[in-house]
Amino acid sequence: MEIPVIQFPNENKEFIDNPYPFLQKIREQSAVVLDEISSLQLITRFEDVKNVQTSKNFSSSSAEGFEQASSSMIKKEDFEYFYKTEEFSLLNLEGQLHGDLRNLVAKAFSNRQVQELRPFMEFKSKELMNRLRGSEFDLLSDYAQPYSIAVIGKLLGVPETMYDEFLDWSNKIVKMYDLKVSKDDAELAEKAAHDFYEFTLDLINQKIAKPEDDMITRLANVTENDQRLTKNQIICTVILLLNAGHEATVNTIGNSMVALSRNNIETKNLHQQHNVKNIIEELIRYDSPLQFFQRWVLEDSIIGGYEIKKGSKVAILLGSANRDKEAFDEPDTINFERSNLNHTSFGGGVHFCLGAHLARLELEVSFNNLLDTSVNLREEPQRTGAFGIRGFKKVLVNI
Ligand code: HEM
Repeated sequence: MEIPVIQFPNENKEFIDNPYPFLQKIREQSAVVLDEISSLQLITRFEDVKNVQTSKNFSSSSAEGFEQASSSMIKKEDFEYFYKTEEFSLLNLEGQLHGDLRNLVAKAFSNRQVQELRPFMEFKSKELMNRLRGSEFDLLSDYAQPYSIAVIGKLLGVPETMYDEFLDWSNKIVKMYDLKVSKDDAELAEKAAHDFYEFTLDLINQKIAKPEDDMITRLANVTENDQRLTKNQIICTVILLLNAGHEATVNTIGNSMVALSRNNIETKNLHQQHNVKNIIEELIRYDSPLQFFQRWVLEDSIIGGYEIKKGSKVAILLGSANRDKEAFDEPDTINFERSNLNHTSFGGGVHFCLGAHLARLELEVSFNNLLDTSVNLREEPQRTGAFGIRGFKKVLVNI
């Protein structure tokens, strides 16, 4: 059976504004569609996305001999530092190395250490919100970004004076993860990766010389079965945690408040009517901040009756899976009392989000404060234009 060929409209404004009708169309048409622009086989349905996340036939890193082409024209040799910061990113590793590295990082990033940050999160969230109350402000740049960068910065032990620089580096680097990357953006990302790499290396050396009670110090000292992380591995992990640690959380806050407003759901006291944890999970399902991840195919496989060839690539469409009516009743409706909250937005299998415990707590503290009041949109927010990392340029509100 031939996989239906489509042109994925990731540069079409109408699609970016609301991708879900198109995603529903392709999901109902076929379990797999081939995007002729990126040559990616797109996996559209919930069960298949879950299977790809957990099957050993699909891998985040390519096997030896596989063509190293990506969906963009980014050449490895031109982007030395970007690839250096990616070399030991957990997201790109598989097998023993991934497992060993993930165990070491998880040891330095336990639930207890995250829970200990709750008082700091509550303080920071209240401090920022009290300053903004009564005025018109951008929920993203005035609240969500400074809040989440302060939390991850505090956890890692990064000096506060560097937060703005981190945000700038991170914003530039994450552009490399979209379906199509312009040459200008790639060059800016390379420069940011260079500066980020060198700064983090210095910081690690300082923490080794003078240990502190923070995660970079723990990463430098953590051991298991006589293994410890190398400096390169720590750098890649710190950069991954800083990047992964704020973009998705910031966009979840923006996407969620806009979704509530567009669905005429009053924010004030919503957390008195429904469990705040369920509110958060349902809103992450409804408009996922991360819409797709790519995987290499290690063995010939069958998905939805289609042959998926070894050596090719698939993209799992998380946002599409979360709107699959086979998995969720009335998937286009926000329902905080769903019996099934098992969405795909935090991933699954060996790459399941390592920071989900931190993200959930950060969101809980923020939502508890935001839902104490009426959050009113002051203008129609504009999407950033990216499909993969789904968010708004700004979300102007008053509270
Ligand atoms: C709402 C917020 C977040 C969402 C929706 C999210 C989502 C995800 C997803 C979907 C993956 C799997 C990627 C794949 O399948 O290849 C992932 C992996 C990861 N996330 Fe998150 N994330 C969030 C917040 C965070 C935070 C706050 C941190 C840490 C500070 C974090 C750290 C990571 C790491 C380290 C991985 C890689 C795990 C591995 O490959 O073994 N994430 N995240």
